[in-house]
Amino acid sequence: MCTHGLPSQCETTQNTAFHRGASLHGYTEIYGDVAGCQAELVHVPFADANLHPLPDGADPVRAVLTTDVLPTAWQGVVCAELEPGATVAVFGLGPIGQAAARIAAVTAGARVIGVDHVSERLAMAARHGVETIDRGRTSDVPGAIVERTDGRGADAVIDCVGMEADGSSIDSVLQATRVQPSRVIALRHAIDAVRRGGTLSVLGLYAGPIHGFPFEQVFDKSLTIRTGQVNVARWFDDVAGLAFAPDDPLALDDLVTHVVPMRVAPAAYQRFQRKRDGIVKLVFVPEEQAA
Ligand SMILES: NC(=O)c1ccc[n+]([C@@H]2O[C@H](COP(=O)([O-])OP(=O)(O)OC[C@H]3O[C@@H](n4cnc5c(N)ncnc54)[C@H](O)[C@@H]3O)[C@@H](O)[C@H]2O)c1
Repeated sequence: MCTHGLPSQCETTQNTAFHRGASLHGYTEIYGDVAGCQAELVHVPFADANLHPLPDGADPVRAVLTTDVLPTAWQGVVCAELEPGATVAVFGLGPIGQAAARIAAVTAGARVIGVDHVSERLAMAARHGVETIDRGRTSDVPGAIVERTDGRGADAVIDCVGMEADGSSIDSVLQATRVQPSRVIALRHAIDAVRRGGTLSVLGLYAGPIHGFPFEQVFDKSLTIRTGQVNVARWFDDVAGLAFAPDDPLALDDLVTHVVPMRVAPAAYQRFQRKRDGIVKLVFVPEEQAA
């Protein structure tokens, strides 16, 4: 799997008993029951493959971004297969969507249309050249995207929403006996908003069978769907090149909104999930580094 650039499908740590891919830090037994990394000390299995040297003097907050947000967003842009002059719609302007929007603009020169309903997130995206659509004030989001793209739809859509985004936890989603249609609204809107022959790049997490998934529309519109768990190691060098570049092409100083000590993590997680206090991206640091 590594030779295919797919470390997240690693055959050494694949969880075959659960028919799942590689083990992940901070997940339950279906993904290997490996403890998470938000701790003072971390045990890293297969460290020779999973650790990467940082440049001397690298900012630790930027280093955190190279471990999840940036590689995920990078993979989403790669999977969107943007051609020169492409228009990409980014659904969800959380940390992943913000980063995907900037990477699409910087690396592919794409025109980016971003969709969300949280005002600080819309404002942050707009500061970085994204044309925004406030879904709280727009009755027909896909229609608005089609209208802005000469009646065709966006060349690609990157779904950075997933099914837990409107304040419910993934646990509560999974405990429901069937996935509620409202939980997949972003994916449905993405299918409506992409042009014929376009690409859907799905970064958002979807778990459980989706009833009534409009596959006939995917077929009729000749869509390509690309998705999956991020392959962090594959993209590390690409994102580190941007994250630590002196001219800061991704303007990362305007992404992390809160740097807090680990001891406040439970409350901070709740505020992040409810999108309170203008939180876009939280980073936990050791006590002595907290401002
Ligand atoms: N593929 C991977 O390996 C990978 C890695 C990291 C994160 N993720 C997933 O990416 C997704 C985004 O992560 P995040 O940290 O940015 O989450 P987030 O919850 O901060 O951001 C999601 C945003 O989507 C917005 N939103 C909700 N419903 C919407 C809709 N219908 N249309 C448009 N916007 C809508 C929310 O207001 C929110 O700002 C999550 O599903 C997360 O699990 C996947």
